[in-house]
Amino acid sequence: MVQDESTRVRLGWPDTGAAELEEVREVLESGMLTMGPKVEEFEAGLARACEVEHALAVSSGTAALHLAVLAFGLEPGDEVLVPAYTFPATANVVALAGLRPVLVDVDPETMNIDPAKIEVGPRTKALLAVHLFGRPLRLHELPDVPLLEDAAGALGARYRGRACGSLGVAGCLSFHPRKIVTTGEGGAVTTNDAAFADQVRLLRNHGWRSLAPADMPVPGLNYRLSDILCAVGIPQLAHLDELLETRTQIAAGYSERLAHLPVLLPRADDGDVHGWQAYVIQVDDRDRVLTELRAQGIEAQIGTYSLPLLAAYRDQGEFPGARRVFERALALPFHTRLTEPELDRVAEALDKLVSRH
Ligand SMILES: Cc1ncc(COP(=O)(O)O)c(C=O)c1O
Repeated sequence: MVQDESTRVRLGWPDTGAAELEEVREVLESGMLTMGPKVEEFEAGLARACEVEHALAVSSGTAALHLAVLAFGLEPGDEVLVPAYTFPATANVVALAGLRPVLVDVDPETMNIDPAKIEVGPRTKALLAVHLFGRPLRLHELPDVPLLEDAAGALGARYRGRACGSLGVAGCLSFHPRKIVTTGEGGAVTTNDAAFADQVRLLRNHGWRSLAPADMPVPGLNYRLSDILCAVGIPQLAHLDELLETRTQIAAGYSERLAHLPVLLPRADDGDVHGWQAYVIQVDDRDRVLTELRAQGIEAQIGTYSLPLLAAYRDQGEFPGARRVFERALALPFHTRLTEPELDRVAEALDKLVSRH
């Protein structure tokens, strides 16, 4: 069956419109395209949303992770624990900082790091843990190791009443288009530690403390986020609660429709708030289901990656939890413009594909 554009159910669709255009117009007319007032305004909104003292806007979630790891000030060869099932940037930044990412298997039910699998060694200096797809991790089960949160998909999520992004030494957000708030590309580091924030601020801007007189105490990078992109994020951030409410309703709409099927549905632990970056189920024979959905014009996608199955991390051994989730996870179309008929259509397609086997 050939699908035309109008009948395609899209995987993601950013919630951007007239308000974002107006904000961008203001920036373009001001002539102040970077390091201007929109950056500070966006950062203030992020700090409020994550309930932290400091938020530093940067050019991507990967840049946020890289700067957070660098700002930790670890020694070459020090070890950072990272989940074996995550977007590869989580581990890549550790390796690129001259440190050793030590993979930890994930719990196949939560898809987050499995606290029972964590082994703290003499060189373990930090735990870089992910709230995967927006599901808060089980902080109370983690060992007493400095925590960096990969909160790329967890803006708005809460662990036992506390905002994700405020739970460790620092949090890292992403504003990629499949995230609840998007700037096209973008990210941020959140922290309550003023010295850590200061270090990130230096590192994202070449290492400059001041230009006149020229003062560069450390070598840095250009990971700044322009005012144009911060402007895109400001109106969405102002409506974060509504965006999360809509995504929560859509997730509930899926969960009701799919409850009778032999699939594992995503949820948060009792007392937590899911950030609903994505709606990722687990299903047997995932590749067949994915291919069939796509053939019907339903843009599904795999969840994310099992790092030990990638050449860069193959030397770390076998991680059965990560392998299982990698083979079974299926991201369904998920965005605020998804309609009830589209939810019905995805659910009916899954009903036929999954209950047949
Ligand atoms: C868990 C996780 N960490 C890091 C990133 C990297 O973020 P970005 O694409 O903004 O660099 C992503 C992106 O999807 C992610 O899902």
